[in-house]
Amino acid sequence: MAPEITILAIESSCDDTSAAVICDGFVLSNLIANQEVHREYGGVVPELASRAHQANIVPVVDRALVAAGKKAEDISAVAFTRGPGLLGSLLVGTSFAKGFALARNIPLIEVNHLQAHVMSHFAMEQGRENRIPGFPFLCLLVSGGHTQLIVIRDYLSMELIGNTIDDAAGEAFDKCAKVMGLPYPGGPVIDRMAADGNPFAFSFAKPRIPGLNFSFSGLKTSFLYFLRDRVGEDPDFIGKNINDLAASLQRTIIEILMAKLVRASKETGIREIGIAGGVSANKGLRQAASREAARRQWNLFLPELRYTTDNAAMIGITGYYKYLRSEFTDHSVVPAARIDT
Ligand code: KG4
Ligand code: ZN
Repeated sequence: MAPEITILAIESSCDDTSAAVICDGFVLSNLIANQEVHREYGGVVPELASRAHQANIVPVVDRALVAAGKKAEDISAVAFTRGPGLLGSLLVGTSFAKGFALARNIPLIEVNHLQAHVMSHFAMEQGRENRIPGFPFLCLLVSGGHTQLIVIRDYLSMELIGNTIDDAAGEAFDKCAKVMGLPYPGGPVIDRMAADGNPFAFSFAKPRIPGLNFSFSGLKTSFLYFLRDRVGEDPDFIGKNINDLAASLQRTIIEILMAKLVRASKETGIREIGIAGGVSANKGLRQAASREAARRQWNLFLPELRYTTDNAAMIGITGYYKYLRSEFTDHSVVPAARIDT
């Protein structure tokens, strides 16, 4: 029998410190330390994020090893997020990974955070029916920093076919939530409020962007001006209509995303479809994707909620497939805030 391949994975690209242990493609543990410190600032403060990563990383890795029932000696390689993300945050995870790999004399594997979000669809768990996409696979990646359409031809072979030309979908959720006085991150808050609102109460202008690209900055501006006018007429407008505003905004964002996903599926002929990234946790988006899937005979993959927002399991799964190809990283590697996919 071939020896087990056990990957320790570290994710520290933004404001969550996460560690996971993956064994032969199965997730044994996936722990996340959320940083509450940013809440009062209404967004992530990079310097506070780096400090919190520094405080959290050793305890989170320890807990991930214990939860997986593994010891440092059992680890075959360390995978870490090299970017894109906040440089100070990435430095903490990168340095920890280097130190661990050096101490244990095991390979180091760099992982692209965006590729990892897509690869979360290949995370398997013991005792669960593991549905995994076949190739080619079309993925809508919607996170706080990115909105992309990607064709996946093989585990690590990805082609970008659509991208946002300005803001990301998650950013649109977060910025519009901020305008309404909601806490950060606004996406999950809007998701909850939208459940009790009328999605057709208000309408906002949708962008006309050719091809498979996206734009969300116009929506953000139109939302801001709309609120400014209405609040001018009635200072309590937001409070009185908060659920309807959330539902209408969410519907608009979902319509923009789904129109391009449908188009991408038609143009590529791919019906093996998935969504990934933090915004893929959105209930409305999941329902809309399920409706399209039924209508268009898609084989749809909705990630488990724990794999939608940032997590180290997705880094570990990507690391596992890189390990199988001996795609290891030199210790001179440095993190990169921006990486083109
Ligand atoms: O993938 P992620 O955790 O981090 C990045 O790589 O950016 O995505 C974070 C984004 C935030 O903008 C957050 O508001 C959004 O995902 N998000 C949601 C939901 N959960 C997280 N947006 C809408 N509905 C949700 N349920
Ligand atoms: Zn992410």
